[in-house]
Amino acid sequence: MSVRISPSILSADFVNLERDLGRISDADLVHVDVMDNHFVPNLTLGLPIVQRIQEVSALPLDVHLMIDDPDTWAPKYAETGAFSVTFSAEAAADPKKLARDIRSTGSRVAVAVKPGTAIEPWLDMLDDLDMILVMTVEPGFGGQSFIEAAMPKLAAARRAVDASGLDVWLEVDGGINEQTIVTAVRNGADTLVAGSAVYGKADGPTPNERIAALRRA
Ligand code: DX5
Ligand code: ZN
Repeated sequence: MSVRISPSILSADFVNLERDLGRISDADLVHVDVMDNHFVPNLTLGLPIVQRIQEVSALPLDVHLMIDDPDTWAPKYAETGAFSVTFSAEAAADPKKLARDIRSTGSRVAVAVKPGTAIEPWLDMLDDLDMILVMTVEPGFGGQSFIEAAMPKLAAARRAVDASGLDVWLEVDGGINEQTIVTAVRNGADTLVAGSAVYGKADGPTPNERIAALRRA
């Protein structure tokens, strides 16, 4: 089975983003982590930078919002031309309306669930979603260890998506490497985010070579 790889630029060099985007040309998507220092205890980048990444990236943008009030902000990220915008389940006030607002821009819409968040309510609104992101770390930082306890949730999502016949992607984010990608795919993931595994080390294989290694695994 072929999977989609979405390298997270959280582990890239923010001062050399355009250069580092060029180093992942073999990826399927580019994962952009937006953090507001409220929903998560870390701050990354906002709308103007996502807009510029959109303008220079050859790859479709997989925007992952870890911010409060996605009902207001997520549609604005979608309007940059992002391929996909993911809001955090725990932060959304009116998820159905939010999903419609994002889709009305032409962007795909996804919901992310933290390791401790139940997935069942979201499986009841698969029609409104293009992707579900199962977090395998607590959101906020790259380089953390994969939380295997999230796998039953992923497997439940896989069963629900297959039963629905809908084209809903299942993404996993956090701690993905050549070992954990096998576990995630076995449990139903088709789209894999990897930050430190792609950009983490300055020496050794290039980011494109690390992407190839993830696919082989
Ligand atoms: C964490 C972010 C992830 C992060 C993953 O909150 O959502 O996208 O970049 O980093 P790794 O792959 O290093 O766990
Ligand atoms: Zn992410």
